[in-house]
Amino acid sequence: VQVKAGAYSDELVQTAKSIASPGRGILAIDESNATCGKRLASIGLDNTEENRQAYRQLLLTTPGLGEYISGAILFEETLYQSTVDGKKFVDCLYEGNIMPGIKVDKGLVPLPGSNNESWCQGLDGLASRCAEYYKQGARFAKWRTVVSIPCGPSALAVKEAAWGLARYAAIAQDNGLVPIVEPEILLDGDHPIERTLEVAEAVWAEVFYYLAENNVMFEGILLKPSMVTPGAEHEKRATPETIAKHTLAMLQRRVPPAVPGIMFLSGGQSEMEATLNLNAMNQSHNPWHVSFSYARALQNTVLKTWKGRPENVEAAQKALLARAKANSLAQLGRYSA
Ligand code: 13P
Repeated sequence: VQVKAGAYSDELVQTAKSIASPGRGILAIDESNATCGKRLASIGLDNTEENRQAYRQLLLTTPGLGEYISGAILFEETLYQSTVDGKKFVDCLYEGNIMPGIKVDKGLVPLPGSNNESWCQGLDGLASRCAEYYKQGARFAKWRTVVSIPCGPSALAVKEAAWGLARYAAIAQDNGLVPIVEPEILLDGDHPIERTLEVAEAVWAEVFYYLAENNVMFEGILLKPSMVTPGAEHEKRATPETIAKHTLAMLQRRVPPAVPGIMFLSGGQSEMEATLNLNAMNQSHNPWHVSFSYARALQNTVLKTWKGRPENVEAAQKALLARAKANSLAQLGRYSA
């Protein structure tokens, strides 16, 4: 069957498939310098390039990581950075059988005319940046925009989020990068799970409408959805089974089986919650690879174990491997606490 995607179409399909391979998921370490600074501050470290390099080196040189991790999303600084011994991080990743990815959005700014909502910048110059990132070894990209339930969401904010994601996805594919499509529906709010389901269905309907309109090849994308949960301030927590039921209902209603992989974000869930919820979703047979692309739910214990001290690096790498393995088992539906 003919699909429109230009020069890179076969490669995009291969890249997406290798990221969505059984028992593996994505390590998201693409925090901007400002966000990385917050993580470092939590263990009393200054936000210097040296400290960011030391932390990313710890993560990316963890022995055996490629067994559980198929891709790592990097911030631009890390894509061009090396270990303290001068080995490019990109080369460390390729040697470990992990595909390098790159965050390409330029972050959120207020959306005038909306209900205190945001939009995501980064389309200007995106084609040439993607071409450069490809030359540097990146093979997939990420663009994260957000939708807020307590602020609406307004029709304007949803349309802008969906259109921006679709333009980005088309440009990334045109330059050989598999786009991760991430409209994060924030956990904030006291709404019940049914409201999250309703908003998620509306957002994904619009995202797929514009992806199709922009001739994005669905076989060469990956999704990064939020799980469908009650708002973080809702009076009752939901079980992993309830979250899995609502999240899978949303995906089945909105996501074509041509999409190879669903790589969930953790969005502030604890490490254990993120693993148990993913495991619950893999108790049924799904048309897509259902896996993880976690930042906080893979890194929280690592940071606390490391504390910025060289003598703790090995223990911190063990902590990363333990979380990666737990989520790998959850991807296969075989995790037990
Ligand atoms: P969290 O898993 O911490 O929500 O991060 C998601 C993300 O978008 C990072 O790439």
